[in-house]
Amino acid sequence: MKDKDLRIDKSSRPVAAGKWRCPALTTGLALLLSGCTSYYSSPGQTGTPYMFEPSGRTAERIADLWWVMLYFGIFVFLLVTSILLFTVIVKARQRRDLEVNLNPASGMGWIWLGGILLPSFILFILFLLNFRVLDAITAPASETPIRIDVVGNQWWWEVRYPDYGFITANEIHLPVDYPVQVHLTSADVIHTFWVPQLAGKIDLIPGKTTHIQIEATEAGIYRGICAEFCGAQHANMAFIVVAEDERDFLSWVEGQMEPASEPDDQAAQEGLQVFLTSGCPACHTISGLQAAGKIGPDLTHLASRRTIAAGMLENTRGSLAGWIVDPQGVKPGNYMPPIEMSSQDIQVLLDFLMTLE
Ligand code: CUA
Repeated sequence: MKDKDLRIDKSSRPVAAGKWRCPALTTGLALLLSGCTSYYSSPGQTGTPYMFEPSGRTAERIADLWWVMLYFGIFVFLLVTSILLFTVIVKARQRRDLEVNLNPASGMGWIWLGGILLPSFILFILFLLNFRVLDAITAPASETPIRIDVVGNQWWWEVRYPDYGFITANEIHLPVDYPVQVHLTSADVIHTFWVPQLAGKIDLIPGKTTHIQIEATEAGIYRGICAEFCGAQHANMAFIVVAEDERDFLSWVEGQMEPASEPDDQAAQEGLQVFLTSGCPACHTISGLQAAGKIGPDLTHLASRRTIAAGMLENTRGSLAGWIVDPQGVKPGNYMPPIEMSSQDIQVLLDFLMTLE
């Protein structure tokens, strides 16, 4: 992604007479804009979620609406400020020697025009524009969409592909220029699914299923986040969406549909035994091997994922080792218990986990 320079240079400052310049406004704007690039930065991040660089059909509509609303806001702000300044500077000077008119009825025209008619007109236009965008982004897709089921958990995402019959976690793949219908629910508390560059937000509510349609218009890796406070590790409940061309998507699907098989390598075989005897299968599933736990993420194709710990760390042998040895140090409060293991056992366990491609 190209670097965005959002610092405000001197030429873009609001032009105003020296004594009317408002330092608070420029400082506030600078702070606000600088936040656009740094928000949600974290170690395992793959691309900053930046809603003003949309790559999805609905995100494009939402971003367009946002700009229109900003322009309306600027127009109203400039209008009100101009009238205010005109009154304070010009009128006050003209009337310095005149008596102040305190008749309450004299300003009624302004109240009707500026306080009721103009705001009603502007709000009505914005309402219509909102309505149009809402209608467009919730319209059913012209093609039969691919279905993806997402279950929110404290603090990770289970991702199921019922059309293909496999389960993964914290990483969603989808083909570019093809509609995807995401069905969402939660296993515990309310979470919110948000991929700023692809679509709007949608809540995941326990006992209820919500839906959102996504269609990526550009291949890429997009960062998604939980946008509803859901407990200690809310800030580290991220995921990635990989939008790719149809051929890459289908070859990924084929890979994910395969069950895992026993490794050929001697060390990895020992690692499998460590996995099976250390309590891991109580929480994790590896289809094809005797592990069918339902509490934690499915690990059948763990090594194929780009991140671990819900988008928090890059998926490398080193970070996987750190995560297994001290999950509470990495992500305090999460439900992965620390497991006592010799360093020899950890090495062979990592050898095994790296075979789960
Ligand atoms: Cu899940 Cu915040």
